[in-house]
Amino acid sequence: MKKLIIINGPNLNLLGKREPEIYGSNSFEDIFKGLQKKYNEVELYYFQSNIEGELINKLHEVGFSYDGIILNAAAYTHTSVGIGDAVKGIETPVIEVHISNVHSREDFRHVSYIAGGAKGVITGFGIQSYELAIQSFL
Ligand code: DQA
Repeated sequence: MKKLIIINGPNLNLLGKREPEIYGSNSFEDIFKGLQKKYNEVELYYFQSNIEGELINKLHEVGFSYDGIILNAAAYTHTSVGIGDAVKGIETPVIEVHISNVHSREDFRHVSYIAGGAKGVITGFGIQSYELAIQSFL
């Protein structure tokens, strides 16, 4: 069985409550349960942190044994050389995902420190961005 993990960065614990017009009104826990049910042929895990170093530690922990990482580093995407370096330093392929289309938003969201080390980027498909990333690993 393939082992995949979704790693969510800062403020994504507030999904469902946070700016619902941009990020939707479902909590990630509910979305995740739906994905686990639908893709029961894979072992699907989930981790969220608001702390940059914890995201890096998780990438190191899973990055030499899992088959795929789906990473929404949220605001750290646009600021974190450390997360970008971690993505380059591990073996497991990483897909960068975003719920919103970061390229249609403010200029500072057009920069990604992760994309250069990622297998690919999926942005702007709402919650479906996560599902498209799972499909690409299957
Ligand atoms: C986001 C886009 C980021 O620019 C923002 O900081 C987020 C969420 C998205 O999923 O659309 O927190 O990664």
